[in-house]
Amino acid sequence: MTDEVQRAIVVTGGSRGIGRAICKALAQPGCHVFFNYFTPGDRKEEEAEAAETERLITEAGARATGIWANIADKDQVSAFFDQVLEACGRIDVLVNNAGITRDNLLVRMKEDEWDDVLNVNLKGPFHCIQKVARVMMKQRYGRIINIASIVGVTGNPGQANYVASKAGVIGLTKTAAKEYASRGVTVNAVAPGFIETDMTAKLPEKVKTGMLALIPLGRAGKPEDVAAAVKFLASDDAAYLTGQVIHVSGGMYM
Ligand code: NAI
Repeated sequence: MTDEVQRAIVVTGGSRGIGRAICKALAQPGCHVFFNYFTPGDRKEEEAEAAETERLITEAGARATGIWANIADKDQVSAFFDQVLEACGRIDVLVNNAGITRDNLLVRMKEDEWDDVLNVNLKGPFHCIQKVARVMMKQRYGRIINIASIVGVTGNPGQANYVASKAGVIGLTKTAAKEYASRGVTVNAVAPGFIETDMTAKLPEKVKTGMLALIPLGRAGKPEDVAAAVKFLASDDAAYLTGQVIHVSGGMYM
């Protein structure tokens, strides 16, 4: 264990959006926040986004390490967590946040659209949980928080792949919660509704207006709204919660 790091925190998909807000919310003196990111395309641009997340974490008094690594790739996941363990010798919190969409109507959905989404959104958390579970069980302490979605509960036309992945994440959460409870490891999910990020910015205006009309609290959510729920689940105040799904949706689904 290296010098004064008391809490090692891992957030997947921390370069922007909800993941960045989670990194910032969890960053405190004595913590080392690791995050990864991987959007094929302009790596340089995403490295700049990641540098901004690192800056925000450092500003909050924690250490920060952002790493380009694909959660759909088992070897890259393994190498990423090995770096965390080498630096800190422990992993206290894992937030499975990274996720993608490839929307299409079910009849038109291509096999690679299905596979891409399932590989990132469901297999990714599976790889990450497998990697940290042994460490957390040995520590007899750990907090795993999975970012699902309310559509994983309600269904949503045009998102069969995404919905299946998020419903899967909820099932994975409950099963892991039962498997690890006796070892002091809690596993919960946060299901956001409609949150303003790059992921939702690309939706057609008509879809956005339709979504807003369904929100009793009358506004889209902010990444910070989701991060606040994650912060609570990662805290000692949530010690008696496991296997739960907290909806952060402005009441969109009750
Ligand atoms: P975003 O597109 O703004 O950011 C996604 C993050 O995930 C980026 O850091 C990206 O690098 C990372 N990522 C993507 N694929 C990756 C991979 N293969 N390996 C490692 N990192 C990868 O997305 P946003 O909106 O911040 O979403 C975060 C999570 O919240 C996702 O799981 C999403 O499904 C979920 N969510 C978002 C909602 C919204 O309204 N924005 C609603 C419900 C759930």
